[in-house]
Amino acid sequence: MPVAEIIARRRSIRAYQPEAPVSDEQLHNLLEAALLAPSACNMRPCEFIVVRDRGKLDAIVQAHPYAGMLKTATLAIIVIGNTNIHNDISAGYLFQDCAAATENILLQAVSEGLGSCWCGVYPTEDKVAAISELFALPENLVPFNIIAIGVPAEADGSRGFYEEEKVRWE
Ligand SMILES: Cc1cc2nc3c(=O)[nH]c(=O)nc-3n(C[C@H](O)[C@H](O)[C@H](O)COP(=O)(O)O)c2cc1C
Repeated sequence: MPVAEIIARRRSIRAYQPEAPVSDEQLHNLLEAALLAPSACNMRPCEFIVVRDRGKLDAIVQAHPYAGMLKTATLAIIVIGNTNIHNDISAGYLFQDCAAATENILLQAVSEGLGSCWCGVYPTEDKVAAISELFALPENLVPFNIIAIGVPAEADGSRGFYEEEKVRWE
């Protein structure tokens, strides 16, 4: 599928076919896409937790008020920023790296026939605290977001559109 079509088809999916399988190959492709994202000074400070355990997915739903779609999602990927990994130039760009990795996962999901939803965690302090506690994260591993993944039970198709007034031409 051409990248323009993938971008146009991506949308946040909040209803999934429960228990529908995501293959190991699909999961590998999602993670590989994340790790191919650009990174400031190529420091590569992003790490990932793959959550497939139903009890853990339900616990995230309890901890995060806007992650209810995980009730039907097959799995979640938590994108983590490692604050220990930086140099003088890349310091401060950690969460931009995490966002780039996230978008690659969302687009790769479309190409795999999967749906996804980005559930923000950082910088909301209570969400960072709740997810850190749930996954016993040390202080240097900051949960950036939680990405729900599964086989969609609702139609895809972008909700965005080109807004000329958002572009300034010089
Ligand atoms: C930083 C960020 C945080 C988000 N957090 C949530 C969330 O917690 N729960 C949710 O259902 N959607 C969340 N979304 C998805 C947005 O609601 C969604 O991208 C937006 O409504 C546009 O819809 P679309 O993704 O279908 O184009 C988040 C998106 C971003 C970029």
